[in-house]
Amino acid sequence: MRVETAEFARAAHQSGDFPRDGRPEIAFAGRSNVGKSSLMNRLLGRKGLARTSSTPGRTQAVHYYAVNRRFYFVDLPGYGYAKAGKEDRRRWGALVDGYLQQALPRAQVILLVDGKVGATVLDEQAYQYLLTLGAEPIVAVTKIDRVTRSRRSAVLKSVRDTLNLGESVPVIAVSAESGEGTQELWGEMTRHLEGHA
Ligand code: GTP
Ligand code: MG
Repeated sequence: MRVETAEFARAAHQSGDFPRDGRPEIAFAGRSNVGKSSLMNRLLGRKGLARTSSTPGRTQAVHYYAVNRRFYFVDLPGYGYAKAGKEDRRRWGALVDGYLQQALPRAQVILLVDGKVGATVLDEQAYQYLLTLGAEPIVAVTKIDRVTRSRRSAVLKSVRDTLNLGESVPVIAVSAESGEGTQELWGEMTRHLEGHA
């Protein structure tokens, strides 16, 4: 995919804020600090576009980026940061629920799992939640540059087992740092975008 233009489009804090132009979407979900914003920037080749931070919990709204004025990259709020309480979890659920209700099936969800940490209980819950809302997420294992080559296949297998993924669900190892896996991920995203043009 050739990225000609990529620009911030809007931040949605509640259901009424979602765009209604029917463009296909690629939505990035995952634990806070898993590397959602970094991966989006790498995929788009725009370093500072989505704000990244070593402080988890920065992205608290649904952020839309228009790509080639044809589809959206969607940065979903991260879950599971240390200071999150019940109220945060409820708000996350409500926002993601509201988002998916109006975005499916034109949105492809990519669930990011930290390769260095492995799939956590919260990732399992998030994956199940996404399934119940009707999404068919594909999984990207992030920060793979921080996993030694000899351990990589074991890490991928463990993510598959923990999330109990069906064989047809793609699991792609990626690094925003090195760019590894981004071509493969673009392949999956392009398939979705072509089916929803
Ligand atoms: P929230 O917006 O808080 O939900 O976080 P996020 O998921 O958007 O994570 P973000 O992209 O801000 O990255 C979090 C931290 O992980 C930053 O310090 C990044 O530099 C680091 N990071 C992200 N991707 C990679 C990667 O592929 N490799 C390495 N080594 N570090 C990464
Ligand atoms: Mg972010």
